[in-house]
Amino acid sequence: MSAPEEMDTVSANENLILAVPKGRILRELTPLLARAGIEPEPAFADEGNRRLRFATNDPGLDIIRVRSFDVATFVAFGAAHLGVAGNDVLMEFDYPELYVPVDLNIGHCRLSVAEPRDLVRDDDPARWSHIRVATKYPEITRRHFAARGVQAECIKLNGAMELAPSLGLCRRIVDLVSSGATLAANDLVEVEVIAEITSRLIVNRAALKTRAAALGGWIERFREAADAA
Ligand code: PRP
Repeated sequence: MSAPEEMDTVSANENLILAVPKGRILRELTPLLARAGIEPEPAFADEGNRRLRFATNDPGLDIIRVRSFDVATFVAFGAAHLGVAGNDVLMEFDYPELYVPVDLNIGHCRLSVAEPRDLVRDDDPARWSHIRVATKYPEITRRHFAARGVQAECIKLNGAMELAPSLGLCRRIVDLVSSGATLAANDLVEVEVIAEITSRLIVNRAALKTRAAALGGWIERFREAADAA
């Protein structure tokens, strides 16, 4: 998908916008932002605060807090200039407008296939020809299985995938696994890892051309902050 032309660039006089994902990744991201020299105003850390855009200690940089999938969309369409997104989201959308210069080495998890414990014993993945999968990642899932000749029918869910097998929606899910606690609590077993995931710095390619000095500076600061961990 490509961004409409009128959204390509934002005036050079306007503040740069950094998009970050809300939720658990923020706990790991906050110290990394501090090492990069970014201190959001206090309201940013207050989860009860309903504002979505915040100032930082840098008068030229504002920060927005959005859903992880939406970080990539805001940056790809030039509404934000840079952002933090997992490679799960980047693989799902595959936006050509995004430049991905730094692996931030936070948010480690994996994208995996899981199924009920009692299915695993008699299951032989080599015999699959058509499977039904509940997932937030239909594109990655289809591509992954198509590569080995398996047709994956994907049912798109936005959360609580782990409920789908026990309620008969499907037998398998593709979802992020970190500690494995959510799978275990729902009697599911990880049977295959599709990709190792970490958070990446993403930059809008058009903005990188028009505001090269400022964005180049931020890329360096994020690189140093990630290396210093
Ligand atoms: C993610 C993911 C799993 C869970 C895995 O959801 O979708 O449900 O974390 O983590 P675990 O292996 O440590 O149990 P998250 O809590 O981020 O919320 P979400 O459902 O809104 O994506």
